[in-house]
Amino acid sequence: MSKGFDLISDIHLDFWVKVENPKHKMLPQIEDFINSILPDNPQNVLVIAGDLGHYNWQNQLLIKELKQVYEHILLVAGNHDFYLVSTNQEKQYQGKSTKRVLEMKELCKEVMNVHYLDGNIIEIDGVKFGGVGIWYDFSYGMKELGYTKEALYSKWWEVMNDSRLIKGLLDKSFTFADEEKKKLDSIVDESDVIITHVGGDWSRVIGNYKFDSVTSFYYFDGSNHFSKLEDKVWCFGHTHQRYDYDAYGCRFVNASLGYPSEGKGRKIVQIEVIK
Ligand SMILES: [Fe+2]
Repeated sequence: MSKGFDLISDIHLDFWVKVENPKHKMLPQIEDFINSILPDNPQNVLVIAGDLGHYNWQNQLLIKELKQVYEHILLVAGNHDFYLVSTNQEKQYQGKSTKRVLEMKELCKEVMNVHYLDGNIIEIDGVKFGGVGIWYDFSYGMKELGYTKEALYSKWWEVMNDSRLIKGLLDKSFTFADEEKKKLDSIVDESDVIITHVGGDWSRVIGNYKFDSVTSFYYFDGSNHFSKLEDKVWCFGHTHQRYDYDAYGCRFVNASLGYPSEGKGRKIVQIEVIK
């Protein structure tokens, strides 16, 4: 029996549709945007593997419109979903990025069959989808390139927007990454489809990225799960490089959309789950 789902990540909606009031002005643009990425025959389930956009109320409009097409929508948090991009947003969320994510979760609850996964599993038509945002853990730079955690932290502080725009969450020890990993530990075994924003397998990193310490901020070490992935699908994003490959008996798929400046024409990807 074959059951499939549609997949996308890294939508970064506010880069595709300018945020403006009133809402009714923006709606037709969101509809056009959706039409530009929809496959010919959308399936019942859409998975969005993180990085929706910087404005929750705009994201909610997108979700509501997508719900006209999809019966179920599953999401996990991406790093950009934690961003507070203006002093207004800092005020609105009292300087706490987690408050923005919490609000987005609540906005999703208002729409039927929209599931914001955060260390839990949802079963739809016999397929178990388990999701959590997860966080990069610097392991790539430490294990593959021999950097110290301290050196990588300095680099992260220097080059990543995450260090400036995520507020009140990431301390020096990066305990958030450990908490997210624990959530993942609790769902991997049971899930047929694993959804994370940051990918747990860096084996396909190529070219200059292989030797760049910045790659440490795009993956985490998921190797403790590799022996348990037989016949599963692992959806991830964060890097705006698309991937679709088999490893450890599992299919890894990155169906990122990315920014308009990175190219247009990418669409939602369709996945068949064979059970
Ligand atoms: Fe991301």
